[in-house]
Amino acid sequence: MDVRESVIGKRLRNINRIICVASGKGGVGKSLIASTLALKLEGKGYNVGILDLDLYGPSSHIILGFNKKGFPDEDKGIIPSKINNIKFMSIIYFSDDKPAPFRGLDISNIIIELLAITQWGSLDYLIIDMPPGIGDETLDIIRLIKNCEFIVVTTPSKVAMGAVKKLLLILTELKIPILGVIENMVIKNSNLIKNQIKNMDLNYLGSIIFDTNLEESIGKPKKLLKTDMVNDLENILNNLNFNK
Ligand SMILES: Nc1ncnc2c1ncn2[C@@H]1O[C@H](COP(=O)(O)OP(=O)(O)OP(=O)(O)O)[C@@H](O)[C@H]1O
Ligand SMILES: [Mg+2]
Repeated sequence: MDVRESVIGKRLRNINRIICVASGKGGVGKSLIASTLALKLEGKGYNVGILDLDLYGPSSHIILGFNKKGFPDEDKGIIPSKINNIKFMSIIYFSDDKPAPFRGLDISNIIIELLAITQWGSLDYLIIDMPPGIGDETLDIIRLIKNCEFIVVTTPSKVAMGAVKKLLLILTELKIPILGVIENMVIKNSNLIKNQIKNMDLNYLGSIIFDTNLEESIGKPKKLLKTDMVNDLENILNNLNFNK
């Protein structure tokens, strides 16, 4: 037993809901959806935190326009900095955004450490930007965070859905709550993914268009909130009953 693990429950106890934005597949928009979801929820008056647990390719700080001034304070743990009024924690504070070649055991250690040291205080929502795949990180998070709920992201591709399905089956088998599936980067209307999700008896939360103007809003939260992509996310928030 790792003594740090016993602290994790205490660190997370004043968080109302912990939402993991995940996928079996890389590059489908997890980080973008996690960040914009946090921005939207903050805009609705909720207390929100983001934990970027993608240790190889952390990117929430890029999407939210993080600058290095916000290094977290230490006080019996680490107090997350606030970016756009969102409490933020990521490996980048410690890796200095350099490539981080971690192996399996290192990964578990870092995740335990981040969860054990971060003093979130009270939050309505903690959004976790998950790494791609169904590796050690995903399994560690499920094991360490008892009450996480998953939003799973796919693209309209059969290839992506092949990998996403595996994550959905694992989560179902482990009886982890799945709030539903978001179909991201949609270019053409089709019911293919929607039907597959419904056939699995899961909630299809809605689709987000492939937004060709999105790139210029990356790093600029105010601009990001006005994109077509975020407009679609608003409908998804209604389906999630996250609206105040
Ligand atoms: N709906 C969209 N319209 C246009 N571009 C998008 C959309 N969703 C995501 N992107 C872009 O696609 C790229 C991948 O998105 P993102 O980094 O969020 O994916 P990810 O699933 O977190 O990737 P990784 O698995 O590497 O963590 C980014 O450049 C992002 O800005
Ligand atoms: Mg990502």
